[in-house]
Amino acid sequence: SQSFTITVLPGDGIGPEVIEQAVNVMKVVEELEGVSFSFEYARLGGCAIDEDGTPLPQDTLEKARRSDAVLLGAVGGPKWDNNPAHLRPETGLLGIRKELGLYANLRPAFMLDCMVGVSALREEVVQGVDLMVIRELTGGLYFGEKRRYETENGEVASDELIYHEYEIERIVRRAFEVARLRSKKLTSVDKANVLESSRLWRKVVDRIAPEYPDVELRHQLVDSCAMELIRWPKQFDTVVTENMFGDILSDEASMLTGSIGMLPSASLADGNFGLYEPVHGSAPDIAGKGIANPTATILSAAMMLRYSFGLEKAANAIEQAVHNVLNSGVRTGDIASNKEEAVGTKEMADKIIAAMREAYVQA
Ligand code: NAD
Ligand code: IPM
Ligand code: MN
Repeated sequence: SQSFTITVLPGDGIGPEVIEQAVNVMKVVEELEGVSFSFEYARLGGCAIDEDGTPLPQDTLEKARRSDAVLLGAVGGPKWDNNPAHLRPETGLLGIRKELGLYANLRPAFMLDCMVGVSALREEVVQGVDLMVIRELTGGLYFGEKRRYETENGEVASDELIYHEYEIERIVRRAFEVARLRSKKLTSVDKANVLESSRLWRKVVDRIAPEYPDVELRHQLVDSCAMELIRWPKQFDTVVTENMFGDILSDEASMLTGSIGMLPSASLADGNFGLYEPVHGSAPDIAGKGIANPTATILSAAMMLRYSFGLEKAANAIEQAVHNVLNSGVRTGDIASNKEEAVGTKEMADKIIAAMREAYVQA
C-alpha cells in the first residue's frame, strides 16, 4: 500500500490544539483508505526559540526535506513579540517557506449555504462566494533587504520590494493552471500605477496570457480589488498577486466567509511537495482553552491529500464531512450564533470524523 511521511509542526498557541485534531483525522484516512502515514514531529516558531535557541532548527528543516509534505499549525505569540528579527517565530515560518522553495500559496475562500448567516456581509453579497487567492510566497517585501540606520534627523528603516522576472513567471503560470481548472477567470492584482515591481509583474502576466487563451484575464489595482472584494465578491474566481498584497487580501477574503478559523492553505513548491497550514495564526487570546476551530487545519490536511499525495477521494471525503457537520448546525464559538451551544475543538473534530466514517460506509 502507499505510504507517506508527514513532518508535523504544531507550533505555538492554538497550533498544537488544532494539529492534534487534524492528525486524528489523518489517522482515520489511513484506516479508511488503506494508506499509511508516518508522522514526524518537529519544532518551529516560539517553541523552537525556547528549546533550541532558534525559530527554525536545522533538524526541523532536515525532517521537512526528507518528508513528502509538511503540516503546520501556527507560530507566534506575545512572549516573543519584542524579540529581534532572528529570534522571532515569524522568521522561522518565512525561513522554512524560502528554504523549501514554497513559492505558491493557495488560499481558497468559500461560502457554504449553511454559513451565510455567519458573515458580517449581507446574504445576497456572500451567498455562493468561491474564490482562490494565489499569493506569491517567497519574494517581494518580505524577503528584500532590510535596513535600519541612524541619521541626524533620527532613525530610518527600509524594506526592499524586489521581484525577479522568473519569480513572477512561475507563480503566474501556476495561477493560470489553477484558473483553468476552476471557472477560467483570473484577476492579477498589482499597484502598477505606482510600483516598478508591479509594472514588471503586469508585463510578465501579459506575456504569458496568450498561452492560456481559454482563461479570461483581468488586471486590477490592489486598492480597488480590496474594495470590490467587499462590494461584490462573486465577480472574483482566481486571484493572483505578490506576497504582501496576497497576505492582506487573503485575510480580507476569509472574512467574507465568516471566520478565519475555517480557511485552509497550501504552500507549494515545484512538483508535489507542499506545506499545509491554516490561514489563521496562533490566536493567543483563545490558546489553551480547547475552543479553537480545527476546521481550517483539517481542511489543510485535505489539501495535502489532494495536492501532494493525489488522494482525491479522501480529500473530498474530508471536505464533504466538514460540510455535513456544519449543515447539521454544529459550531465552534467563532462561527456560532448561539455561543452557549458552541462545541470545543475536539468535539468539532470528532463530529467531522464521524461524518467521514458515515460517508465511507455509504460509498
Ligand atoms: P490570529 O489569526 O492568530 O487571530 C486573529 C483572531 O482570530 C483572534 O481573535 C483569534 O482568536 C481568532 N482566531 C484565529 N484562529 C481561530 C480559530 N482556529 N478558531 C477560532 N478563532 C480563531 O491573528 P493575530 O492575532 O493577528 O496573530 C497572533 C499571532 O499569530 C502573531 O504572533 C502572528 O504573527 C501569528 N500569525 C501566525 C500565522 C502562521 O503561523 N501562519 C499566521 C498569522 C498570524
Ligand atoms: C500568514 C502570516 C505570516 C505572513 C506571518 C506570520 C509571517 O500572516 O501566513 O499569512 O505574513 O505570511
Ligand atoms: Mn497573514
